[in-house]
Amino acid sequence: MREFGTDEKVIDEKLQGTATLLNAAQESTNGKKLYLESYGCQMNFSDSEIVASILSEEGYTTTRNSEDADVILMNTCSIRENAEQRVRNKLSQYNKRKKKNPSLVIGILGCMAERLKKDLLEQEKLVDLVAGPDAYRDLPNLIEEVNGGQKAVNVLLSREETYADIAPVRLGAGGVTAFISIMRGCDNMCSFCVVPFTRGRERSRDPESIVKEAQELFDNGYREVTLLGQNVDSYKWNITKKGEVIDESKPVVTFAGLMEKVALVNPDLRIRFSTSHPKDMTDDVLHVMAKYENLCKYIHLPVQSGSSDVLKRMNRGYTREWYLNRIDAIKRILPDAFISSDIITGFCGETDEDHQETISLMKEVGYEFSYMFFYSERPKTLAERKFEDDIPEALKKQRLYEVQALQAKLSHEANERMVGNVCKVLVEGTSKRSDDFVYGRNSQNVTTIFPKENFEPGDYVNVKITDFTSATLKGVAVKS
Ligand code: 5AD
Ligand code: SF4
Repeated sequence: MREFGTDEKVIDEKLQGTATLLNAAQESTNGKKLYLESYGCQMNFSDSEIVASILSEEGYTTTRNSEDADVILMNTCSIRENAEQRVRNKLSQYNKRKKKNPSLVIGILGCMAERLKKDLLEQEKLVDLVAGPDAYRDLPNLIEEVNGGQKAVNVLLSREETYADIAPVRLGAGGVTAFISIMRGCDNMCSFCVVPFTRGRERSRDPESIVKEAQELFDNGYREVTLLGQNVDSYKWNITKKGEVIDESKPVVTFAGLMEKVALVNPDLRIRFSTSHPKDMTDDVLHVMAKYENLCKYIHLPVQSGSSDVLKRMNRGYTREWYLNRIDAIKRILPDAFISSDIITGFCGETDEDHQETISLMKEVGYEFSYMFFYSERPKTLAERKFEDDIPEALKKQRLYEVQALQAKLSHEANERMVGNVCKVLVEGTSKRSDDFVYGRNSQNVTTIFPKENFEPGDYVNVKITDFTSATLKGVAVKS
């Protein structure tokens, strides 16, 4: 679960149903136990921390064991069909348990809430409670309604809700890295994407609350934060989309400005962000990244397709040439940065030539990493309404295998180039394979494993890279 980057960071590995296990310290309890499970993107994992915070205020303690739970909440993802299927399978399992224990409350949160509330609640009767991404403050009431014998729903999307005042309960293991959500929703309307429908309009969070959260995390021993948003480059505070300043007496804060503020919290606090949008990524963000060592040299810049025709149908708002110009800017201003991408194969009308353009763009950029998917039509999206899903599944998959094979080669070459270099690695924990090794990531976001010696999570260690596997660097600590 350590990869970072992507709009709706919905990497298939991340969708394997890995439960977010909560272990929040509680002050007063109501004797009830909550089991919370997250699917999909980093934003969902971050939202689960807000949910845990809201319910801990009500006295819920969290449990790592779903069998102990009085309330099971699943924070769901709709981005591709298989993501939804996984959640349905899990819901069926939990419902078997409910037959034995009728007071068990089962609810869904997140992106499937809005999309499937009727089906799950009324037709399939798989859940008691449905809460959309902007309705988490209402969860205590919704659970109350269910305990009173009713089904409970709130899927209202908000134009304002950012949960800025809620201190998330940190759920991630290790206490070294954390997410900070800086904005919610998305206004881009990429034609394949369901997110604008499930998460609503874009809104940015007050920068002061973001800086405060980063400072508190640092004071509590955290050494890395990832600023999260569907399109972080369009973060803006105190200015409308049309460019009108809202309060003349206060400064306007853009994403570059926000990055600088967070970078200044402490030079030992690393900052990452996810996700950038090629149409909005400006050079000033790159210049700020170059100025501060603690702004990690890793950019996830999803291209989706290398063909300008396909990009047009995808409504991405840029061409192949524009994208390559952004890549040139990154390579010029941040020569050490690693770049990763999201790629969709088999989008509506994609020809062999279009596919070859994706292949050639991947080679030209030389991505160090990519998340790759075949197109899955989503209800309500522009693509569903306007275009025929005309590429046979076998061909979508064949093209996917081709881009995956190419990416494996590019990643291998990138790792090979790292051998002999010294990287500064932030230790996150003991390696799962061996207690004698620790793991962490370098600035470029590559997981690096090296002998443990006396290193602790939170230490920065200079590591000389000696070897590598497909996704991991190996090395030894050096003094310099
Ligand atoms: N089908 C396949 N992949 C999709 N993505 C988003 N919507 C779809 C879809 N309908 C991918 C995009 C996005 C990533 C998070 O998921 O590549 O950047
Ligand atoms: Fe990302 Fe586009 Fe979906 Fe917004 S609409 S979340 S930018 S893929």
